[in-house]
Amino acid sequence: MIMRTLFLVGFCLIATVSASPLRYDSIFSFGDSLADTGNFLLSGALAFPVIGELPYGETFFKHATGRCSDGRLIIDFIGTPLHLSTQCVNLLHTSTLGLLRGITLMLVETEAYGLPYVPPYLALAKGEKPQHGVNFAVAGATALDAKFFYDQQIGKILWTNDSLSVQLGWFKKLKPTFCTTKQDCANYFKRSLFLVGEIGGNDYNYPFFLGGTIKQMKAVVPLVIEAIVAATSMMIEEGAVDLIMPGNLPIGCSAVYLTLFQTPDKAAYDQNGCLKAYNAFSKYHNAQLKLALEKLRQKYPQARLIYADYYGAAKRFFHTPQHDGFSNGALMACCGGGGPYNFNNSARCGHTGSKACMIPSTYANWDGVHLTEAAYRHIATGLINGPFTSPPLSSPPI
Ligand SMILES: *[C@@H]1O[C@H](CO)[C@@H](O)[C@H](O)[C@H]1NC(C)=O
Ligand SMILES: *[C@@H]1O[C@H](CO)[C@@H](O)[C@H](O)[C@H]1NC(C)=O
Repeated sequence: MIMRTLFLVGFCLIATVSASPLRYDSIFSFGDSLADTGNFLLSGALAFPVIGELPYGETFFKHATGRCSDGRLIIDFIGTPLHLSTQCVNLLHTSTLGLLRGITLMLVETEAYGLPYVPPYLALAKGEKPQHGVNFAVAGATALDAKFFYDQQIGKILWTNDSLSVQLGWFKKLKPTFCTTKQDCANYFKRSLFLVGEIGGNDYNYPFFLGGTIKQMKAVVPLVIEAIVAATSMMIEEGAVDLIMPGNLPIGCSAVYLTLFQTPDKAAYDQNGCLKAYNAFSKYHNAQLKLALEKLRQKYPQARLIYADYYGAAKRFFHTPQHDGFSNGALMACCGGGGPYNFNNSARCGHTGSKACMIPSTYANWDGVHLTEAAYRHIATGLINGPFTSPPLSSPPI
């Protein structure tokens, strides 16, 4: 028994240290609340300060970090060799040697999870050179600039003006910290992964929540895609080689959409209880994004543009939530203030009148808008271990 445990200890430690599935030294991330690990909170924006307090962060960090979830996000899982160490931890859990197992678990978990998380840009000290990349994503951010929304008289509801182009500006400003000459930058960014999104979801969320129709939003899709393409082109021209481009989630399965657009018309719902029209809209955006990526690949054959199918990866647990451990289903929010999906706009998660569920990992939806750590882990696993990236994230570089 001791031998077996020692063997597992050795195996797991070696494996976790050496076998990170991704061969990158750093990650540069852009996007919105799906990827923000603290910028929105640090930006001092007051629109949604509750993400700076528990129960946000309760599951993993045990305190609020500015992440819009109970724990880690997809980017946190991509940045750490999670899947392997999880296997090890499970193996060790089945080993029966109490104390040694405890110590080992501690070691393994520190090794696996203790890797530095990609720091939010606004947390950097002046002159600091982050070793593992930077996260520029800001909760509430849009692909289009704030001006677009102000011109339509709906600017006031934006959480933040830190759109994709603002985030790209931050990147350019910070770039000389990492490299200066073109060759130097090419070498540096060759070993970096660029996570460009998810971004664009909010460009539709804001107008939808104000009564915008699907037809109106379809007209905005080409503009959103254009903004994403412009930012991506600029990153490639700055030296980015490997880029992950996530599509939008199935918004018709999200508690906020299900609550705001609920209807007695049964035909509006699919077999999973999601709103068909809004899911079709997400698919429409994703199809346009994929077409744009195809063109970008032709324009920049040296770059490796990977489409990340967040829609498909999430659709799995909306289809069979029980199978994926979401025993409370995937539609109901864990944290909220009542209603059929536990999303109440007058008592959103963190506000008076709301409360969090006992076991967030049994829910896919965290606060009505964002997902739980368990759901993000599930999506990340689908990206890292396949089949929801194309070309596959784990395939050798071209
Ligand atoms: C956001 O942008 C709009 C339009 O460009 C501007 O009027 C507003 O003052 C900005 N808000 C902040 C907080 O910077
Ligand atoms: C939503 O929250 C408000 C404010 O706390 C409360 O008065 C109302 O009853 C809630 N609605 C539902 C459906 O629980």
